[in-house]
Amino acid sequence: MTHILDDGRRTLAARVALTQRIDRGGVVLSSRLAGAFLNVPRHLFVPAFYRCDGERFVPWRATGPDPEAWLDAVYADNSLITEVDGVHAEDAGPDGPTGAGVPTSSSTAPSLMADMLDALDVEEGHEVYEAGTGTGYNAGLLCFLAGDKHVTTIDRTEALTDKARPRLHSAGFDPLVVHGDGARDFPADASYDRIIATASVRRVPPEWTARLRPGGVMVVPVKGTLAGGMVARLTKLADGAAVGHILHTPAAFMPLRSDTRAPAPPPALEDGPRRNTGLSARVLDDWTFSFFAQLHMGPGVVRTYGKNGDGLHVTTLHDPADGSTARVADTPQGASTVIVGGPRDLWEPVESAYRLWRELNRPRREWFTIEVAAGEQVVSHTAPDGRVRRWAL
Ligand SMILES: C[S@@+](CC[C@H](N)C(=O)[O-])C[C@H]1O[C@@H](n2cnc3c(N)ncnc32)[C@H](O)[C@@H]1O
Repeated sequence: MTHILDDGRRTLAARVALTQRIDRGGVVLSSRLAGAFLNVPRHLFVPAFYRCDGERFVPWRATGPDPEAWLDAVYADNSLITEVDGVHAEDAGPDGPTGAGVPTSSSTAPSLMADMLDALDVEEGHEVYEAGTGTGYNAGLLCFLAGDKHVTTIDRTEALTDKARPRLHSAGFDPLVVHGDGARDFPADASYDRIIATASVRRVPPEWTARLRPGGVMVVPVKGTLAGGMVARLTKLADGAAVGHILHTPAAFMPLRSDTRAPAPPPALEDGPRRNTGLSARVLDDWTFSFFAQLHMGPGVVRTYGKNGDGLHVTTLHDPADGSTARVADTPQGASTVIVGGPRDLWEPVESAYRLWRELNRPRREWFTIEVAAGEQVVSHTAPDGRVRRWAL
């Protein structure tokens, strides 16, 4: 019997359905972008990925017992986790990694890729740099749009670039696939018309602004420890600064990691000065607010969260720079309590961000602008009364 992946009509039908699904959603696809999604087969790049089974990540392969369901999952508009704690789904045992695990590579949800590629506005012949090769699927779309000889893609994990290179080749593309740190490793003297990151940064790496040609565009997920980050679209000006706006799409990309050390876990904080707060830390799970809260938190602040012994929500904020810690817990009575440790109360900026967010009538991401210049990166919002508010990234 023919395997489903050898049935060209079936895989083409899956790409047509996916392209229509993206187009019917929030992204109106240009004909070139629709052409990219129709012509670049996602299944070539994800022969195995993880599906979530409760708390566990279980590998799901094209060669498994239900290839139809597998193909449907490949062409659903979902992100596909391909690596957990550095273990690729192709190399994992049948039960996957032990423990809950943290995803370290994935293929992004196609509609989010489409939004970002639409903002990137790639023309044939543009020199394009992608930080975060992952599976290589987005690089394939970039090759379709710019021409493969104009695309460079980089990932910090060599096993991923080694897998992506032949897969891109089998899709008909031979871009430059580099193993290295996307924040600072570039071919000598290279400059680009377009730069796209598919991993998030807290601040735009200076090398990206430096390597972007005047008039060039970069699309960069900007995110801290909170989910629901922002995607910035920036154009390089003649004076060397890059300015632009935030896209409407929330994006929780995994971080671009430039060092290999695991972040230190926050200290347990069971005791200390205690106060009540009218704001449950569950508010940070609201992606329409969390990007705004992030602007008010120091660049190094880390959030961890879970449930306490009573099954109630607990969030811990920790700033490794000065040791400040806040533990915010829901209580059975309804109010939440904050226990504070170290020199600063880390919950207070979130409370004042929430008040301002309400006062500004819950501003949407796309009402914010961003400016990246030497030494300064600022997000701004102009209220209808003309008052401008600015936050340093
Ligand atoms: C969401 S995945 C990228 C998805 C990819 N564009 C695709 O189409 O499959 C994020 C990737 O960023 C990579 N990454 C993390 N830190 C990096 C760094 N400093 N330089 C380059 N890549 C990095 C991870 O290894 C991971 O593969």
